[in-house]
This record gives sequence, C-alpha cells and structure tokens, in this order.
Amino acid sequence: MAEASEIMRGDAATAADQGADPRVAQLVQSLGADIVLSGPAVLPYCRDWHGDVQSGAVAVLRPRDTAGVQACVRAAVALNLAIVPQGGNTGLVLGAIPDAPRSQVVLSLDRMTRIRDLDADNYLAVVEAGVVLQSLRDAAAGAGLFFPLSLGAQGSCRIGGNVSTNAGGVNVLRYGMTRDLVLGLEVVLPDGQVFDGLSRLRKDNRGIDLKQLFIGAEGTLGIITAVSLKLLPAPEQVATALVALPRLEDAITLYRRARRECCDLMSAFEFMPPLAFKLAREAMPDLALPIEPSHPAYALIEISGSGLVDIDDLMTRFLEGAFDSGLALDGVIAQSQAQAASLWAVREGMNLGQAQRGRHYRSDVSVPLSRLADFVAEAEAAIAADMPGAICVSYGHVGDGNVHLNVMPDYALGADRIDAQIAAAKKIVNRVLDRYDGSISAEHGIGRLKRDDFEARLPATRRDLLEAVRRAIDPGLVMNPGCQLTLAGGRQR
Ligand code: FAD
Ligand code: LAC
Ligand code: ZN
Repeated sequence: MAEASEIMRGDAATAADQGADPRVAQLVQSLGADIVLSGPAVLPYCRDWHGDVQSGAVAVLRPRDTAGVQACVRAAVALNLAIVPQGGNTGLVLGAIPDAPRSQVVLSLDRMTRIRDLDADNYLAVVEAGVVLQSLRDAAAGAGLFFPLSLGAQGSCRIGGNVSTNAGGVNVLRYGMTRDLVLGLEVVLPDGQVFDGLSRLRKDNRGIDLKQLFIGAEGTLGIITAVSLKLLPAPEQVATALVALPRLEDAITLYRRARRECCDLMSAFEFMPPLAFKLAREAMPDLALPIEPSHPAYALIEISGSGLVDIDDLMTRFLEGAFDSGLALDGVIAQSQAQAASLWAVREGMNLGQAQRGRHYRSDVSVPLSRLADFVAEAEAAIAADMPGAICVSYGHVGDGNVHLNVMPDYALGADRIDAQIAAAKKIVNRVLDRYDGSISAEHGIGRLKRDDFEARLPATRRDLLEAVRRAIDPGLVMNPGCQLTLAGGRQR
C-alpha cells in the first residue's frame, strides 16, 4: 500500500479549486459565512507542521462554541462529508489534515479558546478544546498553579489536540501522559449529540470510564469541545542542568541515580546528541551555546519542588556525585530562568533545525528503559551499514524509554531519492524495534502516517475490539476516516 504522505501529495493539486464546490454554498447556508472557509483559505489548515504534505478540504469549519460544533457536525453529515477535527495542527502523524479533499471538511477548534474556570480551591481548570497549551500554563501560573504538560509545540498546540493524541512531552516521567491529567471531557459525537462528561471529581469509579475512549482517539470517535484538567501547586524552585556524558548508556545510569538521589523530584530527563546544538543553532542563529558540544551524549535534567527542600543544593550535590564517579564529563547548572530557557532552547530548537534541513525520517518509538541504549546503538549501526551518508539524530525522553530516532537522508543523492531513503530508514528502525518488542508510537499517535505500520502489527482480537468501538460510536464513519485504522464502508476513501 502507498504511504499516506504519497497519497496526500498526489491529491494536493485538487486543493485550490474547492471553492467552486456547491456543497460550500450549502454549508454557508446552514452555518453562516463567518463559520465556513473555502478555496485557497483552506490550504494553511491542510498542510502539516513540517510542510511535507499539502492536502485540501471541501471547507474548513470554525465554530465558536459547543452548539456551533453540533451544528457543523449535522451540516457535514447531511452533505455526506467526513470530518477531520483540528486543534493547533502541530501533530506529527498526519492525523489532523484530510486525505480525501473532495469528501472531507476540517473542523477547527481554533476559535474555542475560553478558559471556562480556573478553580484553585480544587486544583483544576475547565477549558475549551481550542485553548493553546501555553495559554493554559500561563493562566495557571497566574493563579500560583501549574499545568504540567510541556512540549516543544506548546505555543501552538491546543488542549483538544493534546487530549486527542494523549500527548507526552518532557514531564511525563513525573506527571504522566495527558491521560493522567484529564478529569473529564465534553465531546460532540458523530450524531451531533453531546457526551457531557466534564467531571470535576478526582475519584469517580462508577463503571467503565467512557472518557478514556476519546483520549488518544485522534478525532476518530467525536470532537472534544471542552476538558477538565488537574492542576498542581506551582513548584517554587526549579533547577535545570545540562550534562555531557561519555555514552548514551551513561545517561540511563545517571537517570537511575537521579531517581534515587533526588527523592523523585526530577521533572525532566532528556537526552540528545552533540548534533542537537548545531541543529538548534541553524534554527536560532543567535542562540548562545551553554556548553561545548564536543562530547558523545548530553542529558538535560530538571529537578523541581516547593517548601523546605533546597532544590539548587540537591542538583549541585547530585552533579558532584556524577562528576566524582566519572559519569559526567562537563556540565552547567542554569543560574537564572533565562539560562534555563536557553538550555531548553537547544532541546526544543533541534526539531525546527531538522525541519529546516528538509524532508527526513522521524520516529517516535519506545522500548524498556533497560534496553534503550542497546536499541539505539543497534538501529544506528544498521542505518550506517545500509545507508552510508545518512545521519541519525537520536534524542528523547530517557525516563519514558522513548526515543525519536530520526534519519536525515543523504541529500546529495538528490530529491528524487528522498522518499526511498525515508522508506528504507523506516524499515530498518522498525525491524530492529520489533526485535525489542517496542512500540512504533510512544507519544505522537498513529494518524495516517503510521496507520499501515500499526495495522501490520495489530493482533486480530485487538483490531476487532478497536473496530467494534469505532463502529458502535460512529456507524457512518464520519469521524476522521483513514486515521488510525483502515475501515471498509462509510466515508472511507
Ligand atoms: P492537531 O495536530 O491539530 O491534531 C492532532 C490529532 O488530534 C488529529 O488526529 C486531530 O484530528 C485530533 N484532534 C485535534 N483536536 C481535536 C478535538 N478537539 N477533538 C477531537 N480530535 C481532535 N508530541 C508529544 O507527545 N510530545 C512531544 O514532546 C512533542 N513535541 C513536539 C514538538 C514540536 C516542535 C512539534 C511540532 C510537535 C510536537 N509534538 C509532541 C506533537 C504535537 O505537538 C502533539 O501531538 C500535540 O498534542 C498535538 O496538538 P494539536 O492541537 O496541534 O493537535
Ligand atoms: C520531541 C517531539 C518530537 O520530543 O516529540 O521533541
Ligand atoms: Zn517527544
């Protein structure tokens, strides 16, 4: 089967003439001109973050509230159009952009940005799905609270997208995935009804927890319109350090030590190669490098807490131990918030640096922590053997056993060889991963990009259950067809 990205590039030529579609006029008539975008205005909503894929849509619908979402769903269904929900469109697996521009609309939550309630007494927030993650973090901070989900795209991804992808990020090792932060959901179902599950309760054990179905569903079961989320007291002290290490394996040893010695106050432990600094610099030429990138591996460590504990002292003593035992070769502890931000800028800027170099293979895999270093070494060696000239960029979330083992093709081979190189890299990484019993998607989801690889590894019983759930909630296959699973019938292309 062809790659999803190929299908979508093939369809791109049809994107610009969608404005003439008579169904657009019908959508405008039912919903109002203010809600419906068509023609070239849909194109920015139909391009992925890396710019690898440009698709199209009959229209983009931009409702202002939950009732508006219900109206959009009913209008789309009446015209036999499928719906692709979209938040910030920062997803990395092509879940939020159509693969059938002539029969799909994008439903964007980008106007639903209201924080309905910030309830400090109960440590929770109730927000609309279109609230940008950074806005929620800022609003929580303004009330002395903390929303722990943190990822490189937090300036543009939206809470509904975070919930729908069950996003991970850099704080998972302490606070869990998005799923662990959700108290309740409000969802518009494919038949236009509202599932009102916007609970504020911390404990509620009344039977099957239906909200869990929608978390990580990538828009295949309904449209999340609002979310109630756990907040925490804001940590008063945060210490951030960047440490150079002899090998990736040493990052894992250091991580285990940090768990013991830092009283589980560690909130992030990321690893990256020396190339990260170069990539970040390419994206941000003014970035001051905090440390010489001349060692084989780097760990970015954050410890945070409040109250009587002295976090700076804890970090200093922990790192002294790491130097004494030869685990750390070099290191810097941020002396200010600005310095901490510049350490994080290396980690976050490397994504943009890779994007700017051109199309490349990206993975998001996980293996047990004890096998992480071996997996990376084996996969990188296999790439080096089969793809001379390609460059591996392996980095990620040590505590979660989650590595983004990306491969930059040998661009010198020419543009027409890039697809083949990406396919070859994927095959090699997945072949090694399968031997480690790993996951092809640790945090980004399946979308359309990983659907074939997901289905190829899906045991029959699990597939049957997934399909049964999908067809029970969405018998007409209105919601995001082509995402996660290939299902016959309905509005599937
Ligand atoms: P979108 O991309 O708009 O949508 C993602 C999926 O959710 C799609 O399938 C869409 O149909 C569905 N969806 C969106 N909104 C709704 C809704 N309201 N109701 C139903 N379905 C909906 N991800 C991580 O997990 N960890 C990281 O560390 C991380 N770092 C990133 C760094 C960068 C620079 C970038 C570009 C991305 C990164 N991501 C990361 C991926 C991405 O940011 C997350 O997947 C994020 O949760 C997507 O949110 P979004 O609002 O952009 O969703
Ligand atoms: C990160 C994204 C790619 O960890 O998940 O930077
Ligand atoms: Zn990640």
